[in-house]
Amino acid sequence: MCGIVGYIGNKNCVPMLIEGLKQLEYRGYDSAGVGILTDDKCEVVKAKGKVSILDEKVNNLKLSSTIGIGHTRWATHGIPNEINAHPHLNMDKTLFIIHNGIIENYAILKKQLIEKGYRFVSDTDTEVISNLIDRYLKQGNQLFQAVRYALNKVEGTYGIAVIYQNEPDKIIVAKKGSPLVIGVGENENFIASDVNALIAYTKRVVYMEDDEIAVVTKEGFNVKSIHDEQIDKAVIDVDMDIDEITKGGYAHFMLKEIMEQPESLRNSMRGRTLVEEGFAKLGGLIGFEERLSQSKRIIISACGTSWHAGMVGEYMLEQYTGIPVEVEYASEFRYRNPIIHHDDSIIFISQSGETADTLAAMKESKRRGPLALGVCNVVGSSIARESDAGVYIHAGPEIGVASTKAFTSQLVVLSLITLLIARKKTLSQVDGSNIIRELNSIPEKVDKILQLNDEIEAIAEKFVDATNFLYLGRGYNFPVALEGALKLKEISYIHAEGYPAAEMKHGPIALIDENMPVVFIAPKDSVYDKVISNIEEVKARGGRIIAVATENDNNIDSMVDYTIKIPNTIRMLMPILTVIPLQLLAYHIAVKKGLDVDQPRNLAKSVTVE
Ligand code: AGP
Repeated sequence: MCGIVGYIGNKNCVPMLIEGLKQLEYRGYDSAGVGILTDDKCEVVKAKGKVSILDEKVNNLKLSSTIGIGHTRWATHGIPNEINAHPHLNMDKTLFIIHNGIIENYAILKKQLIEKGYRFVSDTDTEVISNLIDRYLKQGNQLFQAVRYALNKVEGTYGIAVIYQNEPDKIIVAKKGSPLVIGVGENENFIASDVNALIAYTKRVVYMEDDEIAVVTKEGFNVKSIHDEQIDKAVIDVDMDIDEITKGGYAHFMLKEIMEQPESLRNSMRGRTLVEEGFAKLGGLIGFEERLSQSKRIIISACGTSWHAGMVGEYMLEQYTGIPVEVEYASEFRYRNPIIHHDDSIIFISQSGETADTLAAMKESKRRGPLALGVCNVVGSSIARESDAGVYIHAGPEIGVASTKAFTSQLVVLSLITLLIARKKTLSQVDGSNIIRELNSIPEKVDKILQLNDEIEAIAEKFVDATNFLYLGRGYNFPVALEGALKLKEISYIHAEGYPAAEMKHGPIALIDENMPVVFIAPKDSVYDKVISNIEEVKARGGRIIAVATENDNNIDSMVDYTIKIPNTIRMLMPILTVIPLQLLAYHIAVKKGLDVDQPRNLAKSVTVE
């Protein structure tokens, strides 16, 4: 949440700050602001709403500076308005700060500062840091030390950047729990909350770790610990191109990312399957395969869509490896004192690799000695770096707030992990080869489903006015029902619930009437007949039914109002196919309602606060 960007060098930084904020807008978008030094004086411009509003304001002011920082906000403390937008000045307006995270002891610090004569204009926790730094400056410290002392006083999480008019040749940045990278250029340097904002300017980055603080000048950077110890940092080359983070002719990132799935799935499995041996080769797990396959139990922990992927993973792992699996919401796992043994393995799944709850669950559980694996999309992200080992899903940047291609790539990686363990246990070479052949055919099948886009759009048209939706599936497709419902509610604001189909009669059936659309995920698999019975139950009560069914199913059409026919595959891989029509359905309903599908209200792409 909250995007951070900054520049120091010889060029006018204002266009770069605005462009960077546009790249980061998916992180938070209720307000935005930039702070620069002009004639060594602080100048801060803020706007409520999208970065485009800030852009217009900044353009009218014709600002120019060679040092500046920018921020796009997802409100935590204080309503989204211009006053609460970042950057925040200190009381004397000599420095300004941008911040991503939450300062938990801000109320007490604020009270102490008020007692010392400080006045505040905003409701934010961030303004407290600006005045705390000011206090240490007034005690005769240089900016770096003043920021360091201030951060030693605060409790909570932060990625911050600070500029001070009396030391106009530097930006101070620091990180604890919120991501921060330094982009390395020639006679210019950059800072950002993630590399997307930098990629147009440099591919050479330094990932900051928790409790690190750095001075960034136009000539270079120097990183120390929050306790003032010198730290040597490696400069890493990022493998990402600018066209990966543009819409490429699509109306929305979400549609582009849905349509990209044949390619993103190929990337997730590229070089990782040995067809003849029936084996998976996962470079990130080398040296850990034995420990993983000997696990007494596997726990999967994640949030949101990644948690749904974890649920599918549970079905896969239990079916093929015989190892008991538990799937945990990271937000619950971290606080409920879970029983963890050293012979457990825990798989943390996160697209962003920065989700605060998942990261905290990982850190907390690592204390108890299990093998901690990360399944992440963003290379170099915190969860990827903190894990003992892991597998990148290689789905490419996902910008749309609603996760689509990351989900299907997570399922590919979970199927590869399943295969790897299963082959070390009882799965035969022939069965392993069959799974891999099937996996290799998935991108083509996804392509075929995507060709139903117009058909799905026409179905969406009929449901634009719905106020509730029910998604039902069984077995492997129960998590898909949850995911379909999540997609719909987060971008269309239609209330939707996912249920195991058979659970319907234990309560939700009371909701069914002619106004209640029900989406059934009903491929021809071992529970097909049971799902058909559930369809009959809904039909008998007048519910409107959309069914996702397999191509060879000629019976279902007469039982439901709309069918979306998809190719067949093995049960374990079916969710990769069944979820695609649900992504498109949610997308088209939201677009037809005139909503902003890439940046739905109240949400942010990576949830780096609790
Ligand atoms: C998905 O559409 C959501 N926006 C959200 O549930 C997301 O999956 C969740 O916040 C977890 O994010 P992560 O995968 O980056 O950890």
